[in-house]
Amino acid sequence: MAENTPSPHALRVHTPDGRPEDEQPKWRKDFPIDTAQDNYIARRDFTKFMVLISGSFVVGQGWIALKTLKIDGQAAGPKAIAALDEIAVGQAALFFYPGEHDSCLLVRAGEREFLAYSNKCSHLSCPVTPDVKAGCLRCPCHHGSFDLATGRPLAGPPRRPLARITLEVRDGKVYATGVEERTV
Ligand code: FES
Repeated sequence: MAENTPSPHALRVHTPDGRPEDEQPKWRKDFPIDTAQDNYIARRDFTKFMVLISGSFVVGQGWIALKTLKIDGQAAGPKAIAALDEIAVGQAALFFYPGEHDSCLLVRAGEREFLAYSNKCSHLSCPVTPDVKAGCLRCPCHHGSFDLATGRPLAGPPRRPLARITLEVRDGKVYATGVEERTV
């Protein structure tokens, strides 16, 4: 092979049409495009983009989990949330606990049986609604559902149970007494 002849590999790598560099049109010599390098940059940019998107997704999920755990972790004292005669068997009522923006659901499942959960879906925080007859709480956003008796996920994308609000019944009233942290 002549000393000045580039190797076939070098031609494939450095010229878009595979012809030797001295046969390339003048405009291409003036503005050389290294196709292989260009592909490499495109792949690198694509990888960067994917890493950025994946990172944003992980940060978003972490933020939602932190918000949920923040509710779970708050020290909360007893708070009267309903009088016994205000809520009939099979009905549900909205209340806020432990903070004024932490919406929760109180469900009267029986004469002396009360259940309460945070009504933020553990998937992406949409408000859940009780379906007492079916024994579940439903999330309309992605068709998630939770067991009314335990708050654990039954169907759809949620993987964690709803935060449970502990209750006490005394003096004709229902009191919320704390938030139970649960991850499974
Ligand atoms: S936000 Fe509830 S299922 Fe997605």
